[in-house]
Amino acid sequence: MKKPIRVAVTGPAGNIGYSLLFRIAAGDMFGPDQPVILQLLDRASPESQQKVTGVMMELDDCAFPLLAGLENSPEATTAFRDADVALLVGARPRSKGMERADLLNANAEIFVAQGRALNEAASRDCKVLVVGNPCNTNAWIAMKSAPDLKPENFTSMLRLDQNRLMAQTATQAKVSVNDITHAAVWGNHSPAMFPDLDHALIKGRPALELVDRSYYQETMTPIVAKRGSAIIEARGASSAASAASAAIDHIRDWVLGSGDRWVTMGVPSDGSYGIPEGLLFGFPCTTKDGRWEIVQGLELSDFARATIAKSVAELESERAHVAALLG
Ligand code: NAD
Ligand code: LMR
Repeated sequence: MKKPIRVAVTGPAGNIGYSLLFRIAAGDMFGPDQPVILQLLDRASPESQQKVTGVMMELDDCAFPLLAGLENSPEATTAFRDADVALLVGARPRSKGMERADLLNANAEIFVAQGRALNEAASRDCKVLVVGNPCNTNAWIAMKSAPDLKPENFTSMLRLDQNRLMAQTATQAKVSVNDITHAAVWGNHSPAMFPDLDHALIKGRPALELVDRSYYQETMTPIVAKRGSAIIEARGASSAASAASAAIDHIRDWVLGSGDRWVTMGVPSDGSYGIPEGLLFGFPCTTKDGRWEIVQGLELSDFARATIAKSVAELESERAHVAALLG
């Protein structure tokens, strides 16, 4: 039996938590022979803790063969102790009419505190995925609050945006998502993102031979970029099962390797493509041996550059806004 992987998950009493935990415990994140220990962190309030208790009862009742341990603490340093992977989901979600920037102040303090706790308690190689919005800037805050951990191990979730782009492309081109490769999303997890079909292939041929370019630029791009709002409008709550599924995809591919597939990850920029260094930015990546690399040498069209510039401006202004909180 392999040594269990310790996975800290914040927000286990919430909607994403309720989809995510059961899939991790079932083996969807690390494979069918990899035991896991789940370490949960939610708010200390009696209501939150009571919900966490209920979720833990259900996890017990599943009798998952791979669930080697289940722990809960409202103290971040306890919940993050020796964590190999930390999924920072817990945050206030956006409600109808709110933009992600409105969440900045509400959620920034959470990620300062959790970054510090990771710095103190987590494994020195802990891989961090920030899902709680605004996830790019929250990941930047956590990274800056954890100076003893590897900056490259702080990532944010844009995989849901890639999955949305692939699903829209498959529908439009009347193919299976399995036929699509090299679809990726650049920038911020916000309406400023750039869903990139310029490099995508369908059955090895350019995707834009099967999807009309003006449809892609004028219709599909805003559908993907504003899908989060459309889900909130339709469901009355932000996406949960699809977000959990994307978190599984993100960590699975990071840990187990992407092969030659491209995977979209929000990562600290190394200056590639002129994106300011250190900015947490969505890039097409490949992963191997637990490390990611930004795909290099891509040509960016004027449309791509103009859209990517919007994400840079948005993320730089978010970063300037929260920098004061870091002291
Ligand atoms: P939810 O309100 O259902 O659950 C949030 C949970 O986090 C609650 O249990 C809450 O008690 C907990 N929480 C709040 N503050 C906490 C803290 N300081 N420490 C630990 N736990 C805390 O929300 P949800 O629908 O599960 O969404 C969670 C977050 O994920 C939101 O910020 C949402 O906007 C974001 N999200 C991101 C993506 C993405 O693609 N990046 C997609 C969907 C949702
Ligand atoms: C999403 O993309 O579904 C989430 O980030 C929810 C939101 O606030 O848009």
